[in-house]
Amino acid sequence: MSSDSGALDDLLREDRRFPPPRDFADRAVMNDPSVYERAASDPEGYWSTWASELDWFEPWHTVLEWTPPHAKWFLGGKLNVSHNCLDRHVQAGRGDRPALLWEGEPGDTRTFTYAELLAEVCAFANGLKSLGVGKGDRVTIYLPMVPEAAVAMLACTRIGAVHSVVFGGFSPDSLADRNNDARAKVLITADGGWRRGSVVALKENADAALEQSPTIEHVVVVERGGALSAQTPVTMVPGRDHWYHELVSAAAPDCPAESMDAEDLLFILYTSGTTGKPKGVVHTTGGYLTQVYATTKAVFDLHDDDVYWCTADVGWVTGHSYIVYGPLANCAQVVMYEGAPDFPDRGRFWQLCEKYGVTIFYTAPTAIRAFMRWGDSWPGQSDLSKLRLLGTVGEPINPEAWMWYHRVIGGERCPIVDTWWQTETGAIMITPLPGLTETKPGTATRPFPGIQVAIKEESGQETSAGYLAITTPWPSMLRTVWGDDERFRSTYWSKWENVYFAGDGAKRDEDGYLWILGRVDDVLNVAGHRIGTMEVESALVDHPSVVEAAVVGKAHEIKGESIAAFVTLKEGIATSDALMAELRDHVGKKIGPIAKPEIVVFTADLPKTRSGKIMRRLLRDIAEGRTVGDTTTLADPAVVRRLQQMHEEKEG
Ligand code: WTA
Repeated sequence: MSSDSGALDDLLREDRRFPPPRDFADRAVMNDPSVYERAASDPEGYWSTWASELDWFEPWHTVLEWTPPHAKWFLGGKLNVSHNCLDRHVQAGRGDRPALLWEGEPGDTRTFTYAELLAEVCAFANGLKSLGVGKGDRVTIYLPMVPEAAVAMLACTRIGAVHSVVFGGFSPDSLADRNNDARAKVLITADGGWRRGSVVALKENADAALEQSPTIEHVVVVERGGALSAQTPVTMVPGRDHWYHELVSAAAPDCPAESMDAEDLLFILYTSGTTGKPKGVVHTTGGYLTQVYATTKAVFDLHDDDVYWCTADVGWVTGHSYIVYGPLANCAQVVMYEGAPDFPDRGRFWQLCEKYGVTIFYTAPTAIRAFMRWGDSWPGQSDLSKLRLLGTVGEPINPEAWMWYHRVIGGERCPIVDTWWQTETGAIMITPLPGLTETKPGTATRPFPGIQVAIKEESGQETSAGYLAITTPWPSMLRTVWGDDERFRSTYWSKWENVYFAGDGAKRDEDGYLWILGRVDDVLNVAGHRIGTMEVESALVDHPSVVEAAVVGKAHEIKGESIAAFVTLKEGIATSDALMAELRDHVGKKIGPIAKPEIVVFTADLPKTRSGKIMRRLLRDIAEGRTVGDTTTLADPAVVRRLQQMHEEKEG
């Protein structure tokens, strides 16, 4: 756990309380406190009520079948996700309503109404079919934040293909690994995207990945357009590579939505775990859509006049659930932005809020801490008076950042929803309901109605501070790990019987509120992105000069955590700053820039237990400059003293 107990006690002494403003509560989607009890006494009935707000081609006959650790929801039900996100609203006469309000980093804009988005999705779905994509086939999506990312996801769901979105910041190697693990048939990419004024050349990365992706038969390339496309030539391989716009213009406009079983695969999303190999988290159709629909409506208190903006990237689960599926299933008006928050200046997000009249804003604590550091004058230059609800996700939010968000962005009038969930949970699990919950800075408060969690000791005994556990199945839970059900069982279901182990530490306070304390496994959370220590270690050991590496997280003011690597070099290789830079770049190349270690410490030995296990806790203490804890199990205590010295020299 990253917080030491002193800081934790301070946190739990937090006594500032923020009840929902009266006018907010009066018109809130959820303002009857009895919902918690009703949902707890009949969770299946509760979730069925939400599910029945969606369109089903055929009704389910059984709500839940729980054969631990496998759950099935809404058995026998047939539906289609793109139908629920698009056709349903167009058929209800809302085709002219804006669905996506997109802005590129250079300031170019595009708007899609629900009817236009439906037409684009149908055409592209037909385009995919013309490339031989059918139900159950896997399609990798490696795109910048352009409208086509949402179109591609929805087009897959329309024909029953399974998408695997890979974040555009991942390297060719990472992309190839994911293509191969999923045995993807088609890759959808773009010539490039803008990031802080520079072009991210995605097709070039994709070409490198394709050299080691034998299952990919066809590649679709979106032309990002404008100056980018003019200055970013791409090589198209005849027969394999196809321009998106050519496919779409050649395609028939109508594409009936495939009738999918509630338990048919919807998508795979790779996420870091405790081994060197990311795991493909598998989500299915009916339960996932039900819970993202319900939580978007209830947690973000969506009303017709809202303009909703989630600043995540579609490459992460937040983008899947709270840019695309949840909001569109609710017929929301969704802002989508391509670029960085500080381009061309540090006021960009606030200018966008003013320009689009954003009312609901959802971002990560790491971004909030960066805004805080940049100063109040940037948000001060824009009119943020339309904002009425703020959200956070991705990591624990420190009370100071919460208070700043509340005061400077929320003008002291907007409730804040601190939402805890994971790629694996698919949708929000622990969160305030903004019309009901009295919030306190730094706590995600209570489970969403219908969700049951516990805090447990290793033994399974309930406690007030320990491991976060989810004790009953929920609709949007992961169904398995793609191609590795054993890993699914051992990662999440082996600690306690029939109870889900989340990998986070948590504490319950005297109000019963839950405080999430961060990961308890070897997963780092760097600027809200999950990175496995083992992944970074494998990338380092892959370098010809390295024998052994150990990677730990180090507290970081903005990013929450940054990466510290302790590296042992091969005999005879001299340490140098150049080598350090080379190692950092090597990790960037193997995984992606987000995984680059902030510091690299060269060491002749790593601290190990007598049984040979690297003592990560010790390394973390060293990286954070703390007095080193218990070293009695250490094989060679002198190693620690040497390391401490080296680290101090590095920092100094
Ligand atoms: C962390 C992101 C504290 C947590 C949706 C979890 C949080 C991991 C919060 C999942 C929060 C997410 N408070 N910690 N509100 N939200 N986390 O899979 O450690 O990218 O296990 O999903 O982020 O990260 P993932």
